[in-house]
Amino acid sequence: MSETAKLSLQGKEVELPLIIGSENEVGIDISNLRNDTGAVTVDVGYKNTGSTTSAITYLDGEAGILRHRGYSIEDLAENATFLEVAYLLINGELPNSKEYEEWDYQIRHHTLVNEDMENIFKAWPTGSHPMGQLTAMISSLSSFYPESLNPNPSEEEQFRTIRRLIAKMPTIVAMLHKKNAGHPIIYPKNKLDYVSNFLNMTFKQVTEDYEIDPIFVEAMNKLLILHADHEQNCSASTVRIVGSAHSNLYACIAAGIAALWGPLHGGANQKVIEMLEAIKQDGGDAKKYIAKAKDKNDPFRLMGFGHRVYKNYDPRALIIKKSCDDILNKLGVKDPVLDIAKQLEETALADEYFIERKLFPNVDFYSGIIYRAMGFPVEMFTVLFALGRLPGWIAQWKEMRDQGQPIGRPRQIYTGYTKRDWTARALR
Ligand code: CMC
Repeated sequence: MSETAKLSLQGKEVELPLIIGSENEVGIDISNLRNDTGAVTVDVGYKNTGSTTSAITYLDGEAGILRHRGYSIEDLAENATFLEVAYLLINGELPNSKEYEEWDYQIRHHTLVNEDMENIFKAWPTGSHPMGQLTAMISSLSSFYPESLNPNPSEEEQFRTIRRLIAKMPTIVAMLHKKNAGHPIIYPKNKLDYVSNFLNMTFKQVTEDYEIDPIFVEAMNKLLILHADHEQNCSASTVRIVGSAHSNLYACIAAGIAALWGPLHGGANQKVIEMLEAIKQDGGDAKKYIAKAKDKNDPFRLMGFGHRVYKNYDPRALIIKKSCDDILNKLGVKDPVLDIAKQLEETALADEYFIERKLFPNVDFYSGIIYRAMGFPVEMFTVLFALGRLPGWIAQWKEMRDQGQPIGRPRQIYTGYTKRDWTARALR
């Protein structure tokens, strides 16, 4: 195969080197195009632009394949713990027993957050959205650990921040849940594993005993793994681009959380349940809402449907759909919105509009139903996505810094006025 691509541009021929990935993906390296020709490429929404090479996650949207560091998402969701997957994403290999023991110990012993962080809650109006609160809490960690402001941290300093983030995120997420419910926070219990500790801090009431249900632990572990990384998506690209300015890691993760909040990205899981509830209240007619989604004059979209890269099926959605049935059965929960979800899915999958556009349920179509069955309020769903995505963001940031990538700074094609002379328009 030729190692270059040829481009003929305004009478000039240029050869562009190819970059071939380990799964034979072909990229055309245009980094010298502007120097050689004066032209730039334009790709609004980066639909066809590789922003980096990366060895973390492989995704084939046509074949429905998702692998982290070579391991299939199916294998990881079935066999691994979330902490193992986090280690794998960040370090490149699964930990051996000794490495896992050390990693687990370090995470367990950094779970406390500074008591002063509770004061931050005093400033927020009751009922403010926990994603905004999470962004602020994670960003504020840079104030509690000012050494993280060093733009060129040593490896040890880097890992200290990484450990703190992974260890404190469940504590902060549980704290948001408690504060929003108006309940006293529950401190971490370091003899518990990562997921059990999180569930205990979230669901235990100070006045009551709480028994951690192994079904919840299994479900939560799986959901966190399914969300752990997804290559160069909106929030991961945000983390990388903020990190490319050598901003501190807490600020980069806060930026990722802000990007995830949007309803077209991680915010979809909250919107799915709100949509299913609205359909239920409107009589439960799935067909009516399919028609609305197809109507170009109606802004309504089927939340939890469609994906920028999956054009066949989302492998995470298949795993989660099965888990959803299992969990609801095991918990004995009968959720009427699940029936509406199934009707919507069946109707959409048989409809020409959705088939033509390759629109399938994505991971968020079912995750909210599980979270709801576990007792999480709907505003917490995207926060839980963030808890799962954290190791992916860290791995993407670390890879970008380890590769010494330059500051992210796209070009544009200017379409505004050309030079014009000053004429006063306002009355003076
Ligand atoms: N309902 C109805 N029509 C849709 C939908 C939908 N959910 N998604 C896409 N379309 C149509 C869209 O109108 C367009 O039609 P046409 O070609 O006639 O103009 C076509 O499909 C292509 O849509 P697009 O907006 O160009 O596709 P995109 O790749 O830019 O957007 C998406 C992908 C995920 C933002 C979009 O499918 C969407 O808005 N889905 C609903 C929100 C959602 O569930 N997001 C969660 C994604 S999974 C979690 C994550 O990884 O972030």
